[in-house]
Amino acid sequence: MLGDFTYCNPTRLYFGRNALDGLKQELPKYGPNVMLTYGGGSVKKSGLYDSIVAILKSAGKNIVDLPGVMSNPTSEKLIEGARLARENNVDLILAVGGGSVCDYSKAVSVSAYYDGDPWEKYFLKMEEPECRIIPVGCVLTMVGTGSEMNGGSVITNHAQKLKIGHVFGDSVFPKFSVLNPEYTFTIPQYQMVAGFFDIMSHIMEQYFSGTDDNTSDYLSEGLMRSLVHSSRIAAKNPTDYEARSNIMWTATWALNTLVGMAKTQDWEVHMLGHAVGAFTNATHGMTLAAVSLAYYRHIMNDGLKKFARFAVNVWGVNPEGKSDSQVADEGLKALETWMREIGVVMSLKELGVTEDMYGGIADGTFILEGGYRKLTREEVIEILKESM
Ligand code: NZQ
Ligand code: ZN
Repeated sequence: MLGDFTYCNPTRLYFGRNALDGLKQELPKYGPNVMLTYGGGSVKKSGLYDSIVAILKSAGKNIVDLPGVMSNPTSEKLIEGARLARENNVDLILAVGGGSVCDYSKAVSVSAYYDGDPWEKYFLKMEEPECRIIPVGCVLTMVGTGSEMNGGSVITNHAQKLKIGHVFGDSVFPKFSVLNPEYTFTIPQYQMVAGFFDIMSHIMEQYFSGTDDNTSDYLSEGLMRSLVHSSRIAAKNPTDYEARSNIMWTATWALNTLVGMAKTQDWEVHMLGHAVGAFTNATHGMTLAAVSLAYYRHIMNDGLKKFARFAVNVWGVNPEGKSDSQVADEGLKALETWMREIGVVMSLKELGVTEDMYGGIADGTFILEGGYRKLTREEVIEILKESM
């Protein structure tokens, strides 16, 4: 049953081969100083950086360049960006890259005019911004996180061995995002399929919770079916525009608040994945892939009806003459087959996790209550062991 809610998504999307024209339309809305944030060089190599600089210059903007936003952006890098944005009186932060660059830009947007330590305020204490927020726009080059149309921002603190996400409200969502599927063609296969699993995980985190009849779950099933279909094509032929464009659109809807509206949500796989990421700095989607099967097999009996529904409606398992638990089990086997087919990491060992890390990873795993089973610390360790 749907409870009461208010729904608004403030991000304007420009989608398709000519999506960058949208940037030209957006720029007049902002002041002259634009901070360009990007990663380790892929946007320079692809030529996208030059195209964007040309557009900014012809719009008369002053560019404040901020390169080197790393995957899993750090709290130190956040301080650097916040200082640079404030010193240069930045009017717009333009993120050109994947989820890391988008997340980072949002974190900078709420930190530039905050005088204290943003890691402590926004990530350890989960407080909301009260200061001036610099608007953010995104040009997305890597698909998966949904950061282009949500308020999520995930920052890693290596000294504290913590990776924490803050889901900010409407005022921190990107004002606009440019989504051209062709920009994603150059992503290395490993990153691409990690992104595919991240999308699947976002949907599953919102789907595997609750026992009510909820429109959101039907939307989720449709998105998962589309993802499975297109990812099979894209894993073999990464430049298939039809598949890549469908996946890009699915990723956005998988985590722009729609499919989680008015229902309980789980997110325990992400908590496990973030804790693994804090210890290994591994690729986000792969951390999720490594723990998902062990986690879902662990909680399957607590949410049996939903797992059986997942098997039938997403994977086409025939339920005739079978118990719910047989059907549910076949669904998770189909999930595993798909994971192997697209080529994601299947174990924590592959990500560099060693036995001596179990305790620390368990300590860094936030235990949530929205899913079918609230884990104990011992269960977290069991799942880590089963994921090796
Ligand atoms: O740094 P460059 O050189 O640009 O290389 C990047 C990076 O190494 C490369 N890349 C991106 N686009 C490319 C490309 N290489 C060639 N061609 C292109 N077109 O790909 C690598 C990974 O990029 P990254 O942005 O780190 O990946 P992703 O989009 O998966 O973002 C991961 C971060 O987002 C967080 C994760 O925890 C992680 O920190 N998340 C954010 C969420 C949100 N905002 O709601 C939710 C997610 O669950 C997730 O936690
Ligand atoms: Zn994710």
